[in-house]
Amino acid sequence: MVTLEEIDEIVSKMTLEEKARIVVGVGIPGMFGNPRSRVPGAAGETHPIERFGIPSTVFADGPAGLRINPKREGDEKTYHATAFPVATMLASTWNREILEEVGRCMGEEVKEYGVDILLAPAMNIHRNPLCGRNFEYYSEDPFLTGEMAAAFVKGIQSKGVGACLKHFAANNQETNRTNIDTIVSERALKEIYLKGFEIAIKKSKPWAIMSAYNKLNGKYCSQNEWLLTKVLREDWRFDGFVMTDWFAGDNPVEQMKAGNDMIMPGKVHQINRKRRDEIEEIITAVKEGKLDEKILDRNVKNILKVLVNSPSFNKYNYSNIPDLNIHAKVAYEAGAEGVVLLKNNKVLPINKDTRIALFGTGQIETIKGGTGSGDTHPRYVVSILEGMKERNLKVDEELASTYSKYVSEMRKKEYKEKKEMFGESNLTSRLPQDFLNEDEIEKIAKRNDLAVVVISRISGEGYDREPKKGDFYLSDDESSLLKKVSQIFHKYERKVVVILNIGSPIEVTSWRDLVDSILLAWQAGQETGRIVADVIVGKINPSGKLPTTFPRDYSEIPSWNFPGEPKDNPQKVTYDEGIYVGYRYYDTFGVEPAYEFGFGLSYTTFEYKNLEVKLVNEKVKISLEVLNTGEFPGKEVVQVYIRAPKAKIDKPFQELKEFYKTRLLNPNEKEKVEIEIDLKALASYNGEVWLVEKGEYEVRVGSSSRDIRLINRFIVDDEKWRYTS
Ligand code: GLC
Repeated sequence: MVTLEEIDEIVSKMTLEEKARIVVGVGIPGMFGNPRSRVPGAAGETHPIERFGIPSTVFADGPAGLRINPKREGDEKTYHATAFPVATMLASTWNREILEEVGRCMGEEVKEYGVDILLAPAMNIHRNPLCGRNFEYYSEDPFLTGEMAAAFVKGIQSKGVGACLKHFAANNQETNRTNIDTIVSERALKEIYLKGFEIAIKKSKPWAIMSAYNKLNGKYCSQNEWLLTKVLREDWRFDGFVMTDWFAGDNPVEQMKAGNDMIMPGKVHQINRKRRDEIEEIITAVKEGKLDEKILDRNVKNILKVLVNSPSFNKYNYSNIPDLNIHAKVAYEAGAEGVVLLKNNKVLPINKDTRIALFGTGQIETIKGGTGSGDTHPRYVVSILEGMKERNLKVDEELASTYSKYVSEMRKKEYKEKKEMFGESNLTSRLPQDFLNEDEIEKIAKRNDLAVVVISRISGEGYDREPKKGDFYLSDDESSLLKKVSQIFHKYERKVVVILNIGSPIEVTSWRDLVDSILLAWQAGQETGRIVADVIVGKINPSGKLPTTFPRDYSEIPSWNFPGEPKDNPQKVTYDEGIYVGYRYYDTFGVEPAYEFGFGLSYTTFEYKNLEVKLVNEKVKISLEVLNTGEFPGKEVVQVYIRAPKAKIDKPFQELKEFYKTRLLNPNEKEKVEIEIDLKALASYNGEVWLVEKGEYEVRVGSSSRDIRLINRFIVDDEKWRYTS
């Protein structure tokens, strides 16, 4: 078995070929004639070097759960993994303990299924709500992103397997993702797009980082020495290893030199005839003196120093039976804390014998998560209809069977048509929602007490969403259904609730006044239906807060040039908005959002009292009390925004610098909250150094970025530049 101490000696004895096989993957396992992975469905594997006792290791996706094939040829066992809530929903919990617990469960499934590194967390910033993979990412804010990622990584790695932060960096769209040139200022990079990675690396020491597909200021991230060596290694002291995204970049020798230690999945020539096997290219480059072998040695050591701790190197005898029942409960708890109550005119919670008319095909085709490498293969998914029935809610049976019949007929028809056209069918088309006429809805309204309408959206890797009806906006048929249900149910003085089963924001301004309550259930994984049912009846009191802004309209978002120019085939995207992303833009330039960053209602109310702020030894010490002033037990997310003085450097109106989720507080119960913020965390980057400018700082404590309850101030009496990186 290889030990850390032996690595230098082993590398000194390795042949050039062996070193090249360490830094290049085996190719996509099971494709193009490559041997299948010992864990079918895994995304990549490394080469074994038998004579040194170096085993192969296995890498698999993804952020919402381990993605491996649930079934294997000739094997009657199953290999399901838990489908947890998507990352944006996990971030909506604002609960570090939940992220760590989910990480522990995923880490156990990774280990027990024989995988060494989970290719997660994915943590790119929500620069624009239409990015197809936003569901896989946490937030528009780098601090929340970094804190969530750090907790998640700690959980995963506590099980003795690795996490891999991705995609490093500024991979904020899917359009032309493998070639788009992302032009970003150094300040926007350091304060927004890199900051989350920096926090996660310093707080949780991830085993690996995945460099991103895109170019960054002209150079592929995987070939960008400023990013991978200057920032990552020299400034941040990252001591894991860097792998490419799959088939990323165009020059393996440049990747080696830039500090990208490993090329994944390997064998690029299998998908691109114009390219040579990366192993050959590297060997040739060394022989021709175009690549210093010392660089190769450095990268090999970076890899082996990490992998010696892996289960494979330690010959771990994995069981293939992780405890999926325990993990299902954690998936439920995580989702329960991630639901965001956006509107509630005294409708929810309902009592259990309320008669419910459930509309929307999403009640049956409930979306557990997004598509692509962030997908999952759980044992089951509890749909919203199933969840309500399982919890014995009084769902209108006749209407439910109407929807069931409609969905199965429409899918059968679609499958037949697509089979004729394409041979196979990928059931992804959105079904028309407006198939009930007013008379039918009239009858339904008379025999029920409440209408619940499910609006679903799905997106995924490889394509971005669009600012059009049926995507960012409601489709005409969704609007028509909602208007009819609203008009008819209100005529009979029945209320209307909308459940948003979506992975990232949609437009709500044009229709939210038609309904009495809006519950954002995101894509909550396999337990979605149970979570929704339990929130509706008040078994769960929603405590989620938005990690990303819901803009009033797509025309008001700051990343106006998404996804880049030229419009018909973007080659370059310039982040003109700089640091003014999300609420940093809306708050600074006075643009009203539909629902602001940090927003989320509860079934109870909270009062904030006795805020004290003092600056002691370069630490901002904050204390306050939070009191439950309502009738329901609930949890509150205390958010701390800092408004820095206007001085030499322009700054956003305010920035999130800490947050704290209370324990479950019973009515009239209070909790004393104590928070500490390093003064250095308030610095702005002026292009050369990080500066904490002198002047008066405002500490804004509240229940959302726009629901500030208490304000206090402190003075920084002289200019302190903290650090240059
Ligand atoms: C994909 C994704 C990355 C994933 C990798 C392996 O292209 O960009 O997130 O981990 O390939 O599946």
